[in-house]
Amino acid sequence: MVEVQSTGHSWDGIEEYDNPLPRWWLWTFYATVVWAFAYTIFYPAWPLVTRATQGLLNTTTRAEVAADIAAFNAQNAPFEDRLVQVSLQEIPTDPELANFTNNAGAAIFRTWCAQCHGSGAAGARGYPNLLDNEWLWGGTLEDIHYTVSHGIRSPDDPDTRYSEMPRFGIDGLLEPEQITQVAHFVLSIADSPSSTPDPALAAAGRVIFEENCTACHGEDATGDEFQGAPNLTDAIWLYGSDLGSVERLIHDGPFGVMPSWTSRLTEAEIRSVTAYVHGLGGGE
Ligand code: HEC
Ligand code: HEC
Repeated sequence: MVEVQSTGHSWDGIEEYDNPLPRWWLWTFYATVVWAFAYTIFYPAWPLVTRATQGLLNTTTRAEVAADIAAFNAQNAPFEDRLVQVSLQEIPTDPELANFTNNAGAAIFRTWCAQCHGSGAAGARGYPNLLDNEWLWGGTLEDIHYTVSHGIRSPDDPDTRYSEMPRFGIDGLLEPEQITQVAHFVLSIADSPSSTPDPALAAAGRVIFEENCTACHGEDATGDEFQGAPNLTDAIWLYGSDLGSVERLIHDGPFGVMPSWTSRLTEAEIRSVTAYVHGLGGGE
C-alpha cells in the first residue's frame, strides 16, 4: 500500500487521510458542470419574471404540443366540417362519420361526461344510465342533441330543459303519513322494488298519487318525456327503490342538474358525443 499523508486531524485516535479524489470521479464531476452550463445556454432554463430564458435552440415543449394539436385538428377538420353540415340522422348511416363520431365521441365522453355518468356510461344514483332504453328526456338523436347542448336545469342556459317536481314534504304540500302512503303506492306499481309495499297503505296512497302526481308522471305512471318525469312502473330507479329513498325523494323533491355544453364544446364535438351516446345501445 502507498503511504498516504495524513491531514493531521485526529478524533478519538482515528486519523483523517489526505487522499486525492479518484480521477474518474473528478472528471465526471467536471463533465456534469460543463453539461449543465451548456444546457442552460441551449435550452429554456433561467426563470425570469413572466417566462424563462428561451435558450439558443429555441425549443419549447409547449410549442411541440401546440404543433401536435394543430396537426391533429387539421386531420379531423374535414370530418368535423361534414359532421356539422349533414342532418343528425345521416351521421350513423355514413360509415366514415359513424367511425369518426365513435372515436371522437368516446374521447369527449371520457373527458367531459364520465365523471357524472361513469366511464362506461352506466350512471350512478342521481346520474342516469345512458346504456338502457329508458330516457327521462327522450332518446332520439334530436332529443339527446338538445339535452347535451342545453343541459338540464342548467342555470346558465335559458333554453335548458326544465321541470321541477314539488318538494312535497319540505313545502308542506303533503303530511308525513301521506308521503308514506304514496311511497307505498309507488312501490306497489314498480317492477321489483327493494322494499315490499304494504297493501293498505298503498291503497290510501293511490288517491294521493292521482291528486298530486299524475300531471307529470301520467295517469298510468309511465312518465312524461316533455317534463323529464321518469316512468315509475319499471325496474329503473334514478334515486333508489327502497322505501326510505322513495319517501325522502317525495319529501325533498329531486333536482338533477346537468351542465349545458354549447359554451364549452363545439357543435362538431356535441354532435360526436350525441352520436356516441345514441349508439351506446339505448338510442331510439
Ligand atoms: C355534473 C354532472 C354531469 C355531467 C358532467 C354530465 N351530465 Fe349528463 N346528466 C346529469 C344528470 C344529473 C342528468 C339527469 C338530470 C335529470 O334528473 O333530469 C343527466 C342527463 C343526461 C342525459 C339525459 C338522459 C335521459 O334519460 O334523458 C343525457 C343524454 C346526458 N346526460 C348526456 C351527457 C353527456 C353526453 C355529457 C358530456 C358531454 C354529460 N351528460 C355530462 C349530469 C351530468
Ligand atoms: C311537476 C312535475 C312532477 C310532479 C307533480 C311529481 N313529480 Fe315525481 N318527478 C318529476 C321529475 C321531473 C322527476 C325527475 C327529477 C330529477 O331527476 O331530478 C321525478 C322523479 C320522481 C321519482 C324518482 C324516480 C326514480 O327513478 O328514482 C319518484 C319516486 C317520484 N318522482 C314520485 C312522485 C310522486 C309520488 C309524486 C306525487 C306525490 C310526484 N313524483 C309528483 C316530476 C314530478
